[in-house]
Amino acid sequence: MTKLAGKIAVVIGGNSGIGFETAKELKDNGATVVISGRNKERVKQASNELGVLGIVADVSKVTDIENLASEVHKKLGKVDILFVNAGIFQPAPIGNITEEMFDYQMDINFKGAFFTTEKFLPFLNDGASIINLSSINAYTGMPNTAVYAASKAALNSYTKTAATELAPRKIRVNSVNPGPVSTPIFGKTGMEENQLTNFAAAMQERIPLKRFGTTQDIAKLVTFLASDDASFITGSEYNIDGGIIINPLLG
Ligand SMILES: NC(=O)c1ccc[n+]([C@@H]2O[C@H](COP(=O)([O-])OP(=O)(O)OC[C@H]3O[C@@H](n4cnc5c(N)ncnc54)[C@H](OP(=O)(O)O)[C@@H]3O)[C@@H](O)[C@H]2O)c1
Repeated sequence: MTKLAGKIAVVIGGNSGIGFETAKELKDNGATVVISGRNKERVKQASNELGVLGIVADVSKVTDIENLASEVHKKLGKVDILFVNAGIFQPAPIGNITEEMFDYQMDINFKGAFFTTEKFLPFLNDGASIINLSSINAYTGMPNTAVYAASKAALNSYTKTAATELAPRKIRVNSVNPGPVSTPIFGKTGMEENQLTNFAAAMQERIPLKRFGTTQDIAKLVTFLASDDASFITGSEYNIDGGIIINPLLG
């Protein structure tokens, strides 16, 4: 397929999970893709596997984002698709959250996302599409997600302001809010294997469609929003969650 032929796409956090699958889907649709990530080995392995350029950049460091944006521009020119996807999930109960824990999650999930658009902006083509990977956790009040949920709610608010401000350049900005998707993110929380299994089973039971999302589910929606098929869509949020957000009281 060639619906993204001639487009330059950057996937932030493209070495794993949703970002990796989306990089693949964007490439399969004809885009030239660059992935970034924090872990050097994982970025190298994923970029080799995908056959795309991989650049190491920690989004919690604004200078890293600045360097990433200018390196992409130097190597490939201006960008048409910016998938702001890097994120972490560190659940913890209110009353046990340190300033360090707060800053760590906010610095990646919100500040990192915010400064990604800020620093790429001079290198975006007019008519570009920015997709912010958020979460339905912004709205669910799920226990132990106080910082994570707030980081994603902030991102969704930013999506709307950015959509308004960037409209004169025909740059579209949208958010994607997944429900639970099977990726390595849960294994990185520090939860024990049996805790993870119980968590996943309880979660799945609450999802009306009775399954976790797949990375392909999300990659297809992001690819649609990146394409000209979505040329009249900006400032919007897409829940992609098997219906969990409309079913909060089902036990
Ligand atoms: N999986 C779900 O159920 C779910 C649901 C809703 C929303 N989301 C969101 O989806 C996004 C992708 O998550 P995923 O599930 O695909 O998890 P994942 O497989 O753990 O991927 C996360 C990606 O973000 C990158 N990343 C993390 N911290 C970074 C940093 N400081 N600088 C640069 N890159 C960084 C990781 O790179 P390294 O490996 O190099 O650290 C990795 O490429 C996240 O924003 C997450 O909040 C996930």
